[in-house]
Amino acid sequence: MKRILTGDRPTGPLHLGHYVGSLENRVRLQHEYDTFIVIADVQTLSTNFDHPEHLPEDVRHVALDNLSVGLDPDRVNIFLQSMVPQIAELTVFFSMFITVNRLRHNPTIKTEAKQHGFEENMTYGFLGYPVSQAADILFCRADVVPVGEDQLPVVEVSRFIARRFNELYERVFPEPEGLEGEIPRLVGLDGKTKMSKSLGNCIYLSDKSEDIRKKLMSAVTDPARIHKDDPGHPEICTIFSYHKAFNSIESKDIEERCRAGTIGCVGCKKRMFEVLEALLEPVRERRIRFEKPGMVKEILLSGTEAARIEGGKTVDLVRKAMHINYFD
Ligand code: TRP
Repeated sequence: MKRILTGDRPTGPLHLGHYVGSLENRVRLQHEYDTFIVIADVQTLSTNFDHPEHLPEDVRHVALDNLSVGLDPDRVNIFLQSMVPQIAELTVFFSMFITVNRLRHNPTIKTEAKQHGFEENMTYGFLGYPVSQAADILFCRADVVPVGEDQLPVVEVSRFIARRFNELYERVFPEPEGLEGEIPRLVGLDGKTKMSKSLGNCIYLSDKSEDIRKKLMSAVTDPARIHKDDPGHPEICTIFSYHKAFNSIESKDIEERCRAGTIGCVGCKKRMFEVLEALLEPVRERRIRFEKPGMVKEILLSGTEAARIEGGKTVDLVRKAMHINYFD
């Protein structure tokens, strides 16, 4: 069976952008692929090293988000990055043959460095997070990596590292392929390019109905529409882009009615609310089941155990390929 590895930084709750970018693919593909989901706690420290106290709560939240969208813990291994020592070991080996320049010129690193104000003063760990992410992906020799559009350049680093390792030493790794969601990037409620926690424009998977209703009602639509029957411009409307992402069956009809001025923004938002409720209601029910005391811990411990076993196998191959298996 081919393998999937993907995951999230535990920096807070996951939102609809994560859902369309990656979670939806994880859930859909879990039956066809042997699946590993990393909760990348070490990677979180690449930006939040001064606030580790948030990790326990954020780790639990991200685990619950993954479980409540429908990942089956009997099938999928959800694990903690910091508890798989082979990932740290591979990170060190990979860091020997990747150049600083390649990392510095990576588009995702550049964008995120700007966002965090790190351009002039970047830590070694932040610059190197794509190397550690390559270890997250390659420790289990994954074939496919479902991610949002912004992560594709980071997956490119993993592909380079796999290729280079295989050329330098011995063929150990598949070249992992990034897999974008059908909607690679979801706009935020404010109409900004991207739904993102730091922009405060998100609908979270764990939001209550009432909060979602309020968020949708105050979202930006087409500013040219003042009266309900003014003709609208769905191509610039945030809510319409959500119809395309979550309500594809009706979206053609909504588009026509918006242009004709026969559906108003309020009506269109109300319909979106119903669509999101239909999506999130089962998510809420599953969450309640997984919130039972001890359950998340048990799932993460067993996922981590499976990850360590796979990591052990990969490190054996890597050490042999690199001639550092001295006493075998
Ligand atoms: N960098 C990813 C993000 O910010 C999270 C992540 C960590 C990841 N390790 C991974 C994603 C491995 C895919 C594969 O969303």
